[in-house]
Amino acid sequence: RTIDDLGNLSGKTVLVRSDLNVPLNDAGEITDDGRVRASVPTIKRLADAGARVVVCAHLGRPKGTPDPKFSLRPVADRLSELLGFPVLFATDTVGESANETVDKMHKGEVALLENLRFNPGETSKDDAERGAFADQLSHLADAYVSDGFGVVHRKQASVYDIADRLPQAAGGLVETEVDVLRRLTTSPQRPYAVVLGGAKVSDKLGVIENLLGKADMLLIGGGMVFTFLAAQGREVGKSLLEQDQVARVKGYLADAENRGVKIVLPTDVVAATEFSGDAEHEVVGVDDIPADRMGLDIGPESAQAFADVIATAKTIFWNGPMGAFEMSAYAEGTKVVAQALVDVTKGGALTVVGGGDSAAAVRQLGFADDDFGHISTGGGASLEFLEGKNLPGLSALED
Ligand code: 3PG
Repeated sequence: RTIDDLGNLSGKTVLVRSDLNVPLNDAGEITDDGRVRASVPTIKRLADAGARVVVCAHLGRPKGTPDPKFSLRPVADRLSELLGFPVLFATDTVGESANETVDKMHKGEVALLENLRFNPGETSKDDAERGAFADQLSHLADAYVSDGFGVVHRKQASVYDIADRLPQAAGGLVETEVDVLRRLTTSPQRPYAVVLGGAKVSDKLGVIENLLGKADMLLIGGGMVFTFLAAQGREVGKSLLEQDQVARVKGYLADAENRGVKIVLPTDVVAATEFSGDAEHEVVGVDDIPADRMGLDIGPESAQAFADVIATAKTIFWNGPMGAFEMSAYAEGTKVVAQALVDVTKGGALTVVGGGDSAAAVRQLGFADDDFGHISTGGGASLEFLEGKNLPGLSALED
């Protein structure tokens, strides 16, 4: 069901679950507003249709009690700027402030409720506790729109339980994300390359396993690559290494070979004395990583080799930076890979960047969202979608 299926929304109160989980700096300022911008079209569409739009979302992982450092207030301000009109802000989610705010709303107005996760019921593992919170939320509105793609992998009250308590529909962002990611899982144009990076291989096990049967090429960088290099019997010095995953990764390497999937690993890395932008660092071959150094980026030869492989692909999914890109000394690998994706996008390939870190990386490195085919707002959600897992927030909409 899409928003059109909800009928005439003029004067109706619509509860929208958005993913507004944005990074904030120490001063409480938003450092990447991609998710807020991505949420605007659905909110605007509902407001233009005359609905009273009540947006709910989470920020960070507070433990079920209010915590000012996780307040959504800065997000309300940013949302107001992007919408071009004031957004009301309720200082709670289902209490007095929320009720008063919703009561006084007029047609076409937008309100944001305080962080859902200030309530234990939102994330509770107990069905009854979650259900009770979903009941309270549902009393605020006449209909529910699920637009927070980044949270559809969470079985939480505002994502899952709410959907059978109100007439519901998928918002435009969820629709778009699902359409694009389905193109990757059903019939990707080949060759299909997947670039994986980020710190931990253990976060990506499911997706690697699944992709071995789907992708033609798997390019691995980031901190997780050292577990692959160790699985090939290499010494990785002080680099990030998940020793307990080495055997499993060995299995993946063998499996890939049997299935004819090409796994591309770096041949050189930038090795530093410590995890710091000012640390002494040098480019070394993967067979020569000194015992007292850690790899913090793929090296220039590898970045070029990755770019050359990407240039041959028709479909590319990328999740996870190639190095510690927040420090300019280790940003080059991520930059070269991003540029390769931009070039191949211009040539007509479908490129999808998934995950908060990768999206933040490409923006921080000066690329624009429309340089790529699609930047997914989902981190865990896009990976779990590619893994072929059942996502509670999507199945709730289908039931
Ligand atoms: C994300 O950042 O991937 C989503 O907002 C989900 O957040 P969570 O991992 O804290 O549930």
